[in-house]
Amino acid sequence: MGSLKAQLAKLFEVSLKVTVPNELDVEPLVAACNGKFGDYQCNNAMGLWSKIKGKGAPFRGPPAVGEAIKNNLPSSEMIESCSVAGPGFVNVVLSKNWMAKSIQKMLIEGIDTWAPLPPVKTAVVDFSSPNIAKEMHVGHLRSTIIGDTLARMLEFSKVKVLRRNHVGDWGTQFGMLIEFLFEKFPNFEDATETAIGDLQAFYKASKQRFDADPAFKERAQQAVVRLQGGEDKYRRAWAQICQISRTEFHKVYQRLGVHLEEKGESFYNPYIPGVIEALNKQGLVEESQGARVIFIEGINIPLIVVKSDGGFNYASTDLAALWYRLNEEKAEWIIYVTDVGQQQHFDMFFKAAKRAGWLPQGDSSYPKASHVGFGLVLGEDGKRFRTRNTEVVRLVDLLDEAKVRSKAALIERGKGEEWTEEEIESTAEAVSYGAVKYADLKNNRLTNYTFNFDQMLNDKGNTAVYLLYAHARICSIIRRSGKDIEELKNKGTLVLGHKDERDLGLHLLQFAEVVEEACTNLLPNVDYLYNLSEIFSKFYSNPECKVIGSDMETSRLLLCEATAVVMRKCFDLLGIAPIYKI
Ligand code: ARG
Repeated sequence: MGSLKAQLAKLFEVSLKVTVPNELDVEPLVAACNGKFGDYQCNNAMGLWSKIKGKGAPFRGPPAVGEAIKNNLPSSEMIESCSVAGPGFVNVVLSKNWMAKSIQKMLIEGIDTWAPLPPVKTAVVDFSSPNIAKEMHVGHLRSTIIGDTLARMLEFSKVKVLRRNHVGDWGTQFGMLIEFLFEKFPNFEDATETAIGDLQAFYKASKQRFDADPAFKERAQQAVVRLQGGEDKYRRAWAQICQISRTEFHKVYQRLGVHLEEKGESFYNPYIPGVIEALNKQGLVEESQGARVIFIEGINIPLIVVKSDGGFNYASTDLAALWYRLNEEKAEWIIYVTDVGQQQHFDMFFKAAKRAGWLPQGDSSYPKASHVGFGLVLGEDGKRFRTRNTEVVRLVDLLDEAKVRSKAALIERGKGEEWTEEEIESTAEAVSYGAVKYADLKNNRLTNYTFNFDQMLNDKGNTAVYLLYAHARICSIIRRSGKDIEELKNKGTLVLGHKDERDLGLHLLQFAEVVEEACTNLLPNVDYLYNLSEIFSKFYSNPECKVIGSDMETSRLLLCEATAVVMRKCFDLLGIAPIYKI
C-alpha cells in the first residue's frame, strides 16, 4: 500500500499524466506541510510551467497549472478537500474519516502493515567490526548502535539483512601475539580467557616485547608466515586468541541485544588473489613504488592493493569482501558503518569498484555501496572519551555504570517497596541501555558527541528515559480504564473529532514515510518519536480531550493504544526495550 505520502503521490501521478500528457514521467513532488491550508502539498506546478510555457499548453501561468492538477486529481476517500495557493501549490486536506479508519485498521492488522516497501531484496550491513586483541572502544559502540538500527529498519521493510561483523582477525600483529602466547604459555591450549586476563594488556605486553627484542621480532615475523602458510599449531593459537576476544565482544552484544554474524577479515583472505588478478586482467592494477595499486580519478594517492612486500592490506580485504558480497551473497546494497576517519578509504575503494564495473557509476541505482560515517565520542573535557586511569573506556563498565545510576533513580522514586527485585533489574536495564543508545542516535551522526550520563539519564527533555516513561504512562491509562483494548479494536470506533486528536492521528499516519525516508538516507529519525510524545501530551493534557470517563472514551483509548503501538515500534527500530509501567 505504501506510506501516506506515497499514496498521495500515486494520485498526483495520475493527475499529472492527464494534465500534461506530453511530458513523460513527471515525478510527483508531494510533501507534508502542516500549514493552515492543508496537510500535504503538491509542488509540481511551478517547475512544470517553466518546462511547458511557449509550447502551446493551454495554461496561462503556474497557478493555472496548479488548478488543472487539482481538477484532474482522481477522487479518493483519502482526500477531504483540495485548494490551490500562491504560485500554484496544490494543498490537500486529508479526510478525518479515512485517517481514523486507517489507524484503526493498523490496530487490527498490526503495525507491520505500515512497513515501507523494500528498497532492495538483500543488503549487507557491515558494522561494529572491532579488532581482535585490541580494544573495543566507544567508536565501535557507535558503530554497533547505528548499524543495528539501520539493520532493524531495513528488516522491518522486509529486506533480508546480512548483519556482518567484519572483525579485524588477520594481519601481521598475529605473529607477535602468537609468539608471545607460546612464550607465556608453553601449553598454550590451556591459556583460557581467565589465564590471559585482559587481552588488551596482553597485546601491549607482546608489542613491548616485539619492539625490545630483535630475536623475538624475528620469531614473530616467522610466525606470520607460518600462520599464513596454514601450519596447524599456528592456526590453533590464532583461533584461540580470536576466541578470547570474541567472548569479550559477545558480552557487549548480549547486553545491547545486538545480533551480528561474524565474517572477519580472515574469511576473505583466500579470495584476495583471484580478485586482484581479475582486476589486473581488466588493466586496473598498476605498479607504483614497488606496490600494486589502482589509480582513481580525482584523487592523487592511489589505492594500494598489494603492499611492496607482497602482503595484502585493509583495502585488498575490502575489495575481496565486496566481491564476495555482490557475487556470492547477491547483496544489492552494502552498507558500512565506521567513524568518518575512514571515509577516504571507502570513497577510494568504492570508486575502484566502479572502475571495475562491479557497481554502476551513479549513486542512485543498485547494486550500491554506502559508507555511513559518524563522529567521535567525546568526554566532558571535549577530548576523545577516556577514563581517568585507563586510556580507553571499557564498554561493559560504561553499561554497568548506566545501569547502576538507573537503578538508583528507580529506588529514589520509591520503586524499591513497590516492585520485585526482578522488575527493578529489568527496568533499570531497559532504561539505561536504551538511554545510551538513544543519546548516540539522537545526535547528528557526523558531528562528535559528548558522552554525559547525567544528560542521557535525565527523565526530562529529549531522552530515552523521558520517552520510555511517556510510553509507560500511556499503558497505564489503558490499564486504568479497565477496558479490554483487544475487544475495543474490533468493536469500538476510532474518530478524530478534536483538532488535537486529528494532529495526533496525522503524526501517527506519517510513521511509514518517516521510516521509508530513514531507510533511504540511512539516517534514523528520532525526532519523530520525540514529537509523537509531545503531540500526545498536548492531546492528553487538554481537558477537552478527557479520556477515561468521557463519552469519547472508547475512541480515545484506541488513539492511546495506537500511540503506544507506534512508540513501541520506534523503540524496536532503535533497539530499545520498552517498559510498561512506572
Ligand atoms: N575493523 C575496522 C576498525 O576497527 C572496521 C571495519 C569496517 N568494515 C570494513 N569492511 N572495512 O576500524
